[in-house]
Amino acid sequence: MLIILYVLCIQSTLFTVTATNTANNFITCLQNERDALLQFKSTIIDPNKNLASWSSGNCCNWRGIRCHNITRHVSRINLRNSSLQGEINPSLLTLQHLIHLDLSFNFFNFKPIPQFIGSIKSLRYLNLSNAGFSGEVPSSLGNLSSLHVLDLSNLYLSLSSDYVLHVSDSQWLSQLTALQNLKMTGVNFTYASSWLQDLNSLPHIKILGLRYCRLQTIPLVLPHVNFTYLNFLDLSYNRINSTIPAWLFKITSLEYLDLSWNFKFHGLVPPDIRNLTYLNVLVLSYNSIDMSLALSQLGNLRNLQYLYSDYVRKLINCPFHELGGNFSELATTLQLLSLRHSKLTGSLPRWIGNFTNLQFLYVSANSLSGEIPSSLGQLSGL
Ligand SMILES: *[C@@H]1O[C@H](CO)[C@@H](O)[C@H](O)[C@H]1NC(C)=O
Ligand SMILES: *[C@@H]1O[C@H](CO)[C@@H](O)[C@H](O)[C@H]1NC(C)=O
Ligand SMILES: *[C@@H]1O[C@H](CO)[C@@H](O)[C@H](O)[C@H]1NC(C)=O
Ligand SMILES: *[C@@H]1O[C@H](CO)[C@@H](O)[C@H](O)[C@H]1NC(C)=O
Ligand SMILES: *[C@@H]1O[C@H](CO)[C@@H](O)[C@H](O)[C@H]1NC(C)=O
Ligand SMILES: *[C@@H]1O[C@H](CO)[C@@H](O)[C@H](O)[C@H]1NC(C)=O
Ligand SMILES: *[C@@H]1O[C@H](CO)[C@@H](O)[C@H](O)[C@H]1NC(C)=O
Ligand SMILES: *[C@@H]1O[C@H](CO)[C@@H](O)[C@H](O)[C@H]1NC(C)=O
Ligand SMILES: *[C@@H]1O[C@H](CO)[C@@H](O)[C@H](O)[C@H]1NC(C)=O
Ligand SMILES: *[C@@H]1O[C@H](CO)[C@@H](O)[C@H](O)[C@H]1NC(C)=O
Repeated sequence: MLIILYVLCIQSTLFTVTATNTANNFITCLQNERDALLQFKSTIIDPNKNLASWSSGNCCNWRGIRCHNITRHVSRINLRNSSLQGEINPSLLTLQHLIHLDLSFNFFNFKPIPQFIGSIKSLRYLNLSNAGFSGEVPSSLGNLSSLHVLDLSNLYLSLSSDYVLHVSDSQWLSQLTALQNLKMTGVNFTYASSWLQDLNSLPHIKILGLRYCRLQTIPLVLPHVNFTYLNFLDLSYNRINSTIPAWLFKITSLEYLDLSWNFKFHGLVPPDIRNLTYLNVLVLSYNSIDMSLALSQLGNLRNLQYLYSDYVRKLINCPFHELGGNFSELATTLQLLSLRHSKLTGSLPRWIGNFTNLQFLYVSANSLSGEIPSSLGQLSGL
């Protein structure tokens, strides 16, 4: 009996594997969803005929469409980079089991993101990056409580405010309680003063990309730092006029931290930076900060491979070759060290020859003098 069961079990496993491989060929799509997709196509301008397959037959086989292998519902639409224009049809609302919608790298004529997208409640992945949307991001997106990934990044940076996305009130972001990955490059947050408090209530957030968001403020005090899983934080190219807030150094899960190109971050970077022991990439360049307390502590960051601290106000208080603390602990990990234009004096230290994994060393535009140490010759990966 057991042997028979075992054989049956193996056979059914084999069958499942075969069925999955060719799944979408066999699944026939549901009539009402097929009609909804045709309606979607009818308001899209498709100069490159990327939707040519969207006409007859099984819609589960159309370009960019995936259906669930059992329920047959359309579950994914991926029309990334398809030169699409025109209107996004509300017929998408018929697709109540859609979990993945990617319309990135198209050109929707600088119209606003349609409000009804916030009603496709099944969505887990929404990518509208560089799709030519502008205007206020609809707060209805806050209803997407299953969303794991939201990408609204926009690279149309040089254009006027008529051509960018805006978030004036970020409160709706705090409702996206399943969110893990938020990318908002280029979205105008000028008036969204509670952005940090709103993001702090996302319990699962791992990735926060807020580059070029015109952020002006960052709270110095954050009573409860909730960012338990945050490992990627990019706040570069904003206009934050502040000292580096101490709560940042409580986010010990951070692996990637980029605060560069704000120009207005100022003051002493606290030695507590040594608490971020998982940090792999640290980018602090182009700020008015003083690193003289922090730099000698970085030896504690046993995973640090990339350190950028260019164009800062002050790096150290002493000649470079006298840099103490435990910076030299980084010798076995550091691959890139960039300390350009930061008023370094003294000479290039002999101990730099111990940084055996170094591939890039930038120390130009400082006031270094003296002998170039022969230990540099040990850096065979440079
Ligand atoms: C359907 O897909 C799921 C997930 O991709 C898979 O685990 C399951 O085995 C598939 N079922 C069939 C009958 O193909
Ligand atoms: C879009 O597609 C074109 C050609 O198909 C390709 O050259 C380009 O790199 C793609 N762009 C992106 C962002 O994927
Ligand atoms: C969104 O789509 C673009 C390509 O169109 C891709 O580069 C990017 O990684 C996607 N974002 C996410 C978060 O998956
Ligand atoms: C969320 O959805 C509800 C109905 O499902 C709607 O009444 C509400 O306006 C939506 N919220 C937002 C912020 O749009
Ligand atoms: C950003 O938003 C602010 C406030 O609405 C506005 O004054 C500014 O012009 C906008 N800038 C851009 C480039 O969108
Ligand atoms: C921390 O996250 C929890 C769960 O999402 C939330 O209830 C709480 O309000 C958050 N705390 C703060 C200070 O935002
Ligand atoms: C930063 O803000 C302070 C006031 O808080 C102000 O005095 C100073 O001029 C600002 N600095 C810059 C560069 O905007
Ligand atoms: C950094 O760690 C030290 C020692 O564990 C602790 O006393 C200090 O409060 C931490 N700093 C921050 C900002 O959490
Ligand atoms: C680096 O120095 C700090 C303070 O001087 C110390 O707490 C830490 O343990 C040192 N780390 C290593 C790896 O030596
Ligand atoms: C560099 O390493 C050598 C041996 O590996 C060691 O003797 C020397 O003290 C180190 N130099 C510095 C400045 O850490």
